Amino acid sequence: MSNKPVPLMARLRKPTTLLFAAGAALVVGAGAVRRRTSGSPPRTRSVPRPSASGPSRPRALTLLVTAHERLADGVVLLRLEGTGLPSWEPGAHLDLVLPSGLVRQYSLCGDPEDTSSYTVAARLVEDGRGGSRELHEQVQEGTELEVRGPRNRFPLVDAPSYAFVAGGIGITPVLPMLRALPEGAEWRLLYGGRTRASMPFLEEIEKLDADGGRVTVVAEDEDGRPDPGAFLAGLPEGAAVYCCGPEGLMTAVAEHLPDGAALHLERFAPRTTADGDGEFEVELHRSGRTLTVPGDSSVLAAVRAELPNTPYSCEQGWCGTCQQTVLEGEIDHRDDLLTDSERGDSMLICVSRCRGTRLVLDM
Ligand code: FES
Repeated sequence: MSNKPVPLMARLRKPTTLLFAAGAALVVGAGAVRRRTSGSPPRTRSVPRPSASGPSRPRALTLLVTAHERLADGVVLLRLEGTGLPSWEPGAHLDLVLPSGLVRQYSLCGDPEDTSSYTVAARLVEDGRGGSRELHEQVQEGTELEVRGPRNRFPLVDAPSYAFVAGGIGITPVLPMLRALPEGAEWRLLYGGRTRASMPFLEEIEKLDADGGRVTVVAEDEDGRPDPGAFLAGLPEGAAVYCCGPEGLMTAVAEHLPDGAALHLERFAPRTTADGDGEFEVELHRSGRTLTVPGDSSVLAAVRAELPNTPYSCEQGWCGTCQQTVLEGEIDHRDDLLTDSERGDSMLICVSRCRGTRLVLDM
């Protein structure tokens, strides 16, 4: 596939140094790292959601998997078909509800203007929590999956230049951005992976750089680790730096961010705590138990130690499975799923915490 110059710039968002969302994606300026926090014809079905004031939850659709194929070593590509699907912009993702009920998040990597199908790619995580293995081994062509979204916490902003850093499957949100950049845009890409055979979309990525010099591919078995410091050196003032990949890669990019550049991060691994988070107490009102939540652990983890059957799924604040009613205490909400009215007396215990020293949960 060739680079497709799309006159998207008019729709590109203005850069911001504020955080887009807690948990999954954030934007920081150099030197100011702050955390807040796809037989029968395809069919689409809307699932009603409770009404509430404030932001509404994304609409749920049931889509048919019409393609489930190997894309690279350990990576499958899924096409999910429906009708009249909402369009999306580069950086957007879908929440996939797997047959077991687990909810997992995948970046869209197809054509944003295609309203008949969504395309995602997923890496098998050998020591993961089971979602990727289920998607690889149990989901197949003909499976119906509920999806929620698309939502975009990692939007492409308007900037004088762009630097993209992608690690492995982290290329999926970046690829639609590269396709959408206006002709003449100044950009560079650092794309790392364990081996070239494990790196999805590698052929297309290299074609995007037909003139050469913009794309640096680093396969660890051939070249060693990528060097974000050298890659980011000399970026012009106001550059937008996008990074999606393993935590270590994102940390290295943040550490080498040049002055005047804005960093946009997308992470898929759970991150429920931040530097400076303190310990607090949680009383489980109906169980009559009180427990301590350490600064480096989630409320969910502490509660499950006492009540192992406590429901949860994504552990990242976007599925809603772990929502609990709060009877007392000031909640430090770190999700963007709950509506304003829900935030008054409930929290997602996988990511949200306490602003004080004690919470009382109705459980
Ligand atoms: S487990 Fe999904 S929001 Fe908490």
